Amino acid sequence: MKIAFYDTKPYDKVWFDTMAQEYNAEIKYFDFKLNAETACLSKGSDVVCIFVNDTADKETLDILHENGVKLLALRSAGYNNVDFKSAFGKIHVVRVPDYSPAAVAEHAIALLLTLNRKTHRAYSRTRDNNFNINGFIGIDLAGKTAGVIGTGKIGRVFAGICKGFGMSVLAYDPYPVQDLDVKYTGLDELLESSDVISLHCPLTPETRHMINRENLEKMKSKAILINTSRGALIDTSALIEALKNRKIGGAGLDVYEEESEYFFEDLSDTIIEDDELSRLLTFPNVLLTSHQAFFTEEAMHEIARVTMENVKAFESGGALENEICYKCDGPCEKKNKNRCF
Ligand code: NAI
Repeated sequence: MKIAFYDTKPYDKVWFDTMAQEYNAEIKYFDFKLNAETACLSKGSDVVCIFVNDTADKETLDILHENGVKLLALRSAGYNNVDFKSAFGKIHVVRVPDYSPAAVAEHAIALLLTLNRKTHRAYSRTRDNNFNINGFIGIDLAGKTAGVIGTGKIGRVFAGICKGFGMSVLAYDPYPVQDLDVKYTGLDELLESSDVISLHCPLTPETRHMINRENLEKMKSKAILINTSRGALIDTSALIEALKNRKIGGAGLDVYEEESEYFFEDLSDTIIEDDELSRLLTFPNVLLTSHQAFFTEEAMHEIARVTMENVKAFESGGALENEICYKCDGPCEKKNKNRCF
């Protein structure tokens, strides 16, 4: 199969080239993102492979369809950038649902530990021969409460690590699971009682801006907020206001509402136009990473392998285990030979 691969980074080639040989696939790499302007370059490809900041809206999908593209292969777990209603009946959409929950949960923990003990600032200070520890005081996590919003694959690993630290774990999820050693509560109770709050739910119309002004007000004044899921779960203006007014203790963010223009790019010679991003970067108690939570060797190997398995299943006419459609908010019917349509 011929694959048009958008938003390629050097590390993508390392993992996908090896896998393409194994699966006998032909990949055409583009270093720009998919959108309505670049979709024309998919002509001649059966599959288009995209990542989190590519755009698969109606206009783009219509062009892909006209160009004969049959499969949109997301090399990510999240899929909020795809207009599924427009794809339905035309282009099958597959994803990599769980390449390494540990990778993301461990990065969320890295953000938490760094923010709490200020190791990001200590690193710079000691390298400047400044061995002063003023301002670096943290809290013991043991005995504190972690609030986990979304107890899917990643949220549960995060909860397990917090348990290992000796924390109690509260959880909020409209679909609670039975076998998890956490206390499910309502969202309000979680926000009011947690010392650490970590977001692990998908971005949907319901979860967009779930961390808004009102909910930030409910948090403890020293609470640390961690977001490794999707930027728009948080209303950034409200977060900035809460940080300025010392309403929360800090924020560890691997994702940002308007990240698509900035994240994954080297813009060190550029003036940043986004004032909210710039403001976030000024707070000593905000730690921002550039959507790298997924980025481990194990995860990259799995992303490449499962993407190729998805393509192979499509090519062979087999069941599309990792297919998603607009009906998939509930169970996907997959009526047609284990496919959505
Ligand atoms: P998952 O599908 O296994 O779990 C999501 C959980 O959120 C489910 O239990 C679901 O019931 C719950 N949920 C749905 N609506 C909710 C709501 N309104 N409030 C609270 N919980 C709700 O997903 P997984 O694999 O754990 O991934 C979670 C998110 O992490 C993804 O949606 C994706 O956006 C993000 N992600 C980020 C990565 C990164 O590199 N920063 C990498 C991979 C995923």
